[in-house]
Amino acid sequence: MKINGTHYRTIWVDPDNRRRIKVIDQRLLPHQFIINELVTVEETAGAISDMVVRGAGLIGATAAYGMYLAALAAHPKRLTEDMARAAALLTATRPTARNLAWAVERVQAAVAGMTDPAVIQQRTFATATAVADEDAGFCRRIGEHGAQLIKHIAARKSGGRVNILTHCNAGWLAFVDYGSATAPIYAARDEGIDIHVWVDETRPWNQGARLTCWELAHENIAHTLITDNAGGHLMQQGLVDMVIVGSDRTTHTGDVANKIGTYLKALAAKDNMVPFYVALPSSTIDWEIDRGKDIPIEERSGTEITQITGPDDAGILHTVHLCAPGTAALNYGFDITPARLVTGLITERGVVAPEKQAIARLFGR
Ligand code: MRU
Repeated sequence: MKINGTHYRTIWVDPDNRRRIKVIDQRLLPHQFIINELVTVEETAGAISDMVVRGAGLIGATAAYGMYLAALAAHPKRLTEDMARAAALLTATRPTARNLAWAVERVQAAVAGMTDPAVIQQRTFATATAVADEDAGFCRRIGEHGAQLIKHIAARKSGGRVNILTHCNAGWLAFVDYGSATAPIYAARDEGIDIHVWVDETRPWNQGARLTCWELAHENIAHTLITDNAGGHLMQQGLVDMVIVGSDRTTHTGDVANKIGTYLKALAAKDNMVPFYVALPSSTIDWEIDRGKDIPIEERSGTEITQITGPDDAGILHTVHLCAPGTAALNYGFDITPARLVTGLITERGVVAPEKQAIARLFGR
């Protein structure tokens, strides 16, 4: 994506020093555009758990580079143990997104049985780079497939504006490039479709308000910020033509884990006969778990609900309290949308029914 005319991915290797990984600090967006440097696996794990980087695809790519940084620092006599420790550290940072563990396992598999430190460093680097490149490529193809759905709706409306509702940030910032839920929007826009996006604010981290709105503004896509509770009302009023969200983990049977609040949007969509699509690369699919309710759901600190941080008019950040001191708060990061509420999954291989046989067929499993 372009920021003020310069193309950025969300993660990249310092061109002057391959031992440094660069990421955009997403905690500060849209108020400040700061680039952080990661040089150790501990820093990488901290960046993932503290939400410097977030979104299923990006935390997968970041974890893969974390394994490379671990290989650079590993003791030549304890390579296997050091790499296993790094894998455990990274995997424990955020439990829900499948992409994270998938990426770590992929790097581990690429160096399994190897003992030469130089070869391990080279292989971990190549694998992390492949994970990042693939992520961007998958999202671009998700865009191509999803754009056909949007074009279909535009044709039904005789070229009228297509209103799409999205939740959280399943955009460029949640991946390495393009995004999942936003990629079809960009691709359809490029084909001349008139699109407007309803953006859920997405409490408590406000990924919609802070990140999705910022992305859409940079892409000149018409959009309107709404409260998390407004979607059902808009659907009843006929103001939503389709919903597209991302996913942190989708079972091979079609149940979808995504940002908390997604399930309520899916219920409202079903009641109002609004198509509800989930855009995801295959790295998000869990081929082991059969039931969505078995997906581990991350629980984060209650202070993320009871406090909020933002800048004043001078740009100075302040954290303020939203409720009485000591108020108990329960902060689940994700919820499960059952397959029966999902119209289709938009993947890099095409759009597929959220159903075991159809998914297995598409991916040759
Ligand atoms: O807690 P976050 O910001 O990492 O959650 C992100 C989401 O829920 C996205 O919708 C999700 O990752 C799917 S798109 C990668």
